[in-house]
Amino acid sequence: MNLSQTKAIISGGASGLGYACAEHIINNGGQVTLIDINQQAGEQALESLNTKLATFFKADVSSETQIQQACEASRKFSDGINVAINCAGVLAGGRVLGREEPMPLAHFNSAIQVNLVGSFNLSKAAANLMQHNDADEDGQRGVIINTASVAAFEGQIGQAAYSASKGGIVGMTLPMARELTRFGIRVMTIAPGVFLTPMVAGLSDDIKAALGASVPFPSRLGEPSEFARMAEHIIENTYLNGSTIRLDGAVRLEPK
Ligand SMILES: NC(=O)c1ccc[n+]([C@@H]2O[C@H](COP(=O)([O-])OP(=O)(O)OC[C@H]3O[C@@H](n4cnc5c(N)ncnc54)[C@H](O)[C@@H]3O)[C@@H](O)[C@H]2O)c1
Repeated sequence: MNLSQTKAIISGGASGLGYACAEHIINNGGQVTLIDINQQAGEQALESLNTKLATFFKADVSSETQIQQACEASRKFSDGINVAINCAGVLAGGRVLGREEPMPLAHFNSAIQVNLVGSFNLSKAAANLMQHNDADEDGQRGVIINTASVAAFEGQIGQAAYSASKGGIVGMTLPMARELTRFGIRVMTIAPGVFLTPMVAGLSDDIKAALGASVPFPSRLGEPSEFARMAEHIIENTYLNGSTIRLDGAVRLEPK
């Protein structure tokens, strides 16, 4: 599948890595449904994309019903879905034994609900529609791309909840890919290092400079367009399936 044939649904599409994927797909002639919990950011993203090839649907990825409705809206908009990209995510940082009190379970659970359950919800609802697509010459009907993090492998102090949620995404990649082979649907995960998106832009300049300097090569933060090009390669290369790819300039995060 090439990008011009892509009918994508992208969670977290209003910002950062999800928006970069949307922009890249549209610039190459594909169609995109952005889904995001932030209505204002979604409308702004749509305005910036300035194209009839994109639409926005407000939905919370942790809601099974809202995501089913979003997938149905996307199917109607593009006459089908063949790519789902899970980019919605929250950091939910905090120590297990915080200064004031132990981490409330609700805080831990918020990372799991958005990052892990949200990725499951969209993957499941999109796959349910993809299974009815016509197969290409390889028998392929769709591609699911998840976004984990290098924190799935070497989470820092304060990332117990985030790392657990991202580790869950890495863990479900292979079993989901194995199960969906019978429908010709591939499942891949990208584990980014540190990328310059609104999630990171809010950090102080000193911290951003230190983060960039900690990357062995190239010694800088990742560009969202580099993430989008990795997503493009996954969409186009049918032989990629069931794996997690680190996209991180060889960074290995220190404990803090
Ligand atoms: N930026 C990085 O350095 C980095 C590194 C590793 C992993 N990631 C992961 O990449 C993904 C994208 O991150 P980003 O940097 O683009 O962040 P971002 O904050 O720019 O974008 C995330 C988007 O997700 C949306 N969102 C949050 N909760 C949602 C919900 N419940 N339902 C629907 N939408 C929701 C937000 O409104 C936002 O538009 C996240 O999963 C993040 O954990 C980012």
